[in-house]
Amino acid sequence: MKISDEQLALLKLYKNSTTLEKVKIYARIIFNFPQIKNHLEKYIPNSGTVLDYGCGYGIFSNYIKMKNPNLNVIGFDISKTRINEAKKSAIAMGVEFTDDLKNFNFENLQLVLSIDVLLFLTLEQKINLLEKFYRSIKTGGIVFIKDTLKSNSFRFKYTNFEEKLKIKLKVYGSNVTSTLNYITPDEFLEILSSAGFKIVDLIPENHLLYPGIFIIAQK
Ligand SMILES: C[S@@+](CC[C@H](N)C(=O)[O-])C[C@H]1O[C@@H](n2cnc3c(N)ncnc32)[C@H](O)[C@@H]1O
Repeated sequence: MKISDEQLALLKLYKNSTTLEKVKIYARIIFNFPQIKNHLEKYIPNSGTVLDYGCGYGIFSNYIKMKNPNLNVIGFDISKTRINEAKKSAIAMGVEFTDDLKNFNFENLQLVLSIDVLLFLTLEQKINLLEKFYRSIKTGGIVFIKDTLKSNSFRFKYTNFEEKLKIKLKVYGSNVTSTLNYITPDEFLEILSSAGFKIVDLIPENHLLYPGIFIIAQK
C-alpha cells in the first residue's frame, strides 16, 4: 500500500499523540483517509468557514486547512480525549478544535462535514442538527455527510457489531455512550430535503468490510 504525501503530512501532525491514540489515528489516516478524501476534495471552498462536526482527532479538519490555509476551520467533538489529541496536532496547522460549541457563532458556514458521526445521534437529533446546519450554511454552501449504509447485508451486520463493541470498550472515550441509530439513504434524503437542502450527490461505497454512503447536499 502506497502512502501519499498528504497522508505522510497528516501522520507527522500526530507525532506527539499518546501511543494508544496514535494507533487509532494512524489506522484512520492509512486505511480510511484516502477513500473519504477522494470524495471530499472537490468540495473544499476557496474561502470562508468550515465546521467539522464530530471531528474526532481532527484528521479531516487538518486536511482541509492543509489544502487551503486561508480557510477558517473549526473542529468539534464531544470526546475530550480526541479533542485533546486534535489540539496537539493543530499547533502547526491553526485549526480551532473544541469540545464545546456553546459560544460558537453558527453563521455563514461554507462547508459542514459530518463524517461517520450521525449514526451516534437519534433520529430527532439528526433532524435538529441538519436543520441547524441549514440555517448556519451560506446559500450555495455544502453539507458533506458520510455514514454507514443501512442494509440487510453481512457487511452492515458486521459494522454494527464492531461499532457496538467500540462503544462498549470506550474506543471513542467515555463521552460517547449512545446507542447506534442508522437510517436508510431514503431517510437521509427525506430529512435533508425537509430541512431545505438540495441533494448534489449520493454515493454508496463499500470500503474494506464497511458499507458506507456519502451524501452531499447544498443550500
Ligand atoms: C468514527 S469517529 C469519526 C471522527 C472523524 N469525523 C473522522 O472521520 O475521523 C466518530 C466521532 O463522532 C463523535 N461523536 C459521537 N457522538 C457525537 C455527538 N453527539 N456530537 C459530536 N460528536 C460525536 C465521537 O466522539 C467520534 O470522535
